[in-house]
Amino acid sequence: MDIEINHLRKTYGSAVAVADLSAKVPQGQMLALLGPSGCGKTTTLRMVAGFIEPTSGSIRAGGSDITRMPAHKRDTGLVFQNYALFPHMSAAENIAFGLRRRGVARAEREQRIGVMLDKLKLSGLADRLPRQLSGGQQQRVAVARALVINPSILLLDEPFSNLDAKLRESTGLEMSRLQREFGLTSIFVTHDQTEAMSIADTIAVMKDGELQQLGNASEIYQKPANRFVADFIGRANFLPGHIADRKEAHVSIVLTAGLTVELQADGVGGSPGDEGEVLLRPEAISVTDAGQANTLKATVEQISYQGSIANLHGRLPDGSAIVASVPPDTLRGLAPGDAASLVIRANAMRWFGRR
Ligand SMILES: Nc1ncnc2c1ncn2[C@@H]1O[C@H](COP(=O)(O)OP(=O)(O)OP(=O)(O)O)[C@@H](O)[C@H]1O
Ligand SMILES: [Mg+2]
Repeated sequence: MDIEINHLRKTYGSAVAVADLSAKVPQGQMLALLGPSGCGKTTTLRMVAGFIEPTSGSIRAGGSDITRMPAHKRDTGLVFQNYALFPHMSAAENIAFGLRRRGVARAEREQRIGVMLDKLKLSGLADRLPRQLSGGQQQRVAVARALVINPSILLLDEPFSNLDAKLRESTGLEMSRLQREFGLTSIFVTHDQTEAMSIADTIAVMKDGELQQLGNASEIYQKPANRFVADFIGRANFLPGHIADRKEAHVSIVLTAGLTVELQADGVGGSPGDEGEVLLRPEAISVTDAGQANTLKATVEQISYQGSIANLHGRLPDGSAIVASVPPDTLRGLAPGDAASLVIRANAMRWFGRR
């Protein structure tokens, strides 16, 4: 069942929780709502679930308008922020909850719970109370409880927020596998961009109730629609400069750090004299010998190691900070205080004009 959100809006008095959100989720796909705290993710999800009535706009599921349909009549499974299991019920009873409410007979109930326990690797834990389960196990119970009713739509609100990084990644991937296996159309709320990029088909980046960009992981990473998206997704250096010259195919930008770069004209709005910033991802920078083209001179301030990469924190001649993420074996023995030559990949840069 596909979902279509059209110009959805929710206000509380003069406060705008969600301004004007439109997005489509094709049958079987996953949309992530991604953005900082307070940007309207939960409000949007709860409107789709039917717990909050929109101020305006509409929601369609499988072609029918469900905007004002009561929550219990919608064909949705829901995993809440902090997953809220019933503390006095065992794992199996928690999973059974929706089936009981729907009047499913005992034998069938037990059979369906068994399938879920098995699928979510919870066999053997059926009789435990939530407090006797680890965070990851409780999480899987919450997912089982949402899936057991065979919903067409699955809505998840920061379901993995209490898990450590590793468990979070594996549970997320497992979730995405199940979602595909069941052919569920889902909306997944997170403020973790890595999580959104690794499991969602499409990502809606939100800020202050406003949709900033809708696209797949590589689109929002490679072609961020604005400076906010560029900064929120992944890590970013912003180097100040101005447009010096504009030709058919290329635009020359003079960086105040002392380098002129050529960017493809179609990605750069604006005309000569305009000031702005160039986005440069830390991984689009390498340490090199002096004398190469597209090289920035930097003073090394700090080097931090992050497993397979090293982050070189440096200062450019104009005083701007820069971070380069490079394989540690390419650091050439650089240490704080040293002068470094940083070669940048011009085709990985984006221009954001200042208004
Ligand atoms: N019942 C309400 N009355 C007034 N304002 C509300 C109400 N519910 C939410 N808001 C406001 O709407 C905005 C969006 O809230 P929402 O819960 O959707 O954010 P969120 O993106 O889920 O944030 P978080 O990541 O912290 O969970 C916030 O500014 C919040 O204070
Ligand atoms: Mg929320």
